[in-house]
Amino acid sequence: MGSEGLLVTEKLTKDFGGLRAVDHVDLTVRRGEIHGIIGPNGAGKTTLFNLITGYLRPTEGKVTFKGRRIDGFPPHRIVYLGIARTFQIVRPFTELSVLENVLVAWGHRHYGGLGPFLPYASERQHAMEILEEVGLADRAHLPAGTLPIGHQRRLEIARAMALEPELMLLDEPAAGLTEEEIGGLKELVRRIVEGGITVVLVEHRMTFVMDICEIITVLDHGRVIAEGTPEEVAHDPAVIEAYLGSADAAR
Ligand SMILES: Nc1ncnc2c1ncn2[C@@H]1O[C@H](COP(=O)(O)OP(=O)(O)OP(=O)(O)O)[C@@H](O)[C@H]1O
Ligand SMILES: [Mg+2]
Repeated sequence: MGSEGLLVTEKLTKDFGGLRAVDHVDLTVRRGEIHGIIGPNGAGKTTLFNLITGYLRPTEGKVTFKGRRIDGFPPHRIVYLGIARTFQIVRPFTELSVLENVLVAWGHRHYGGLGPFLPYASERQHAMEILEEVGLADRAHLPAGTLPIGHQRRLEIARAMALEPELMLLDEPAAGLTEEEIGGLKELVRRIVEGGITVVLVEHRMTFVMDICEIITVLDHGRVIAEGTPEEVAHDPAVIEAYLGSADAAR
């Protein structure tokens, strides 16, 4: 594997009727890195995640994970192979407790998500450890729907961690967070990567992305318009042009 990449997309393309949301995207994510994906609203970032995680089938192109073609696989199979994601619109089971939300993800990974399962004490313990890791241990028994957005985003990450992935895709984890919460999120993402998980991060909060990512790919109208270090992309004329032409310039 090494230099050829943990996750590779080749000419990955998605059409919605007449709209090409993702347009021949070649992306290589290397093991151990934090790889940012940025671009104006509607650039195709979430659609790209949906293609990688099996929520959408590509119109054209390939997705390869650990050297194996995965495009066309259903989402649960892709989870088993080692890719977990969070959603731009958080989707916890609002009636279940924070701990139960993590246990459901755990059950999904280890028992195939088939029917209800009664977790062993050791599994509850493990789920609590994950909640400690993300700073939600003291909220474990609250209904997930009662958490403020910053905590719900952490719960999304906790659920993804319970899936024990090799690759984690985070869709706007910093959206709606205060500056202080973003500081904590930065540390959390770094710890996740130190724990051996590779991270791809879609994000609009630029200081966060620039701070944390080793490499950034920039999408605009579904196409890759730039890729490089945070420094390189921040000074790329095509990137500046894309952002000036959109409402994101104001962010
Ligand atoms: N299921 C769908 N059906 C039709 N069009 C869609 C669908 N999903 C996304 N689109 C369109 O595809 C384009 C890319 O959308 P996408 O959500 O991937 O953008 P994004 O980069 O994630 O934007 P944002 O930063 O606002 O989250 C947009 O024009 C969007 O309206
Ligand atoms: Mg999006």
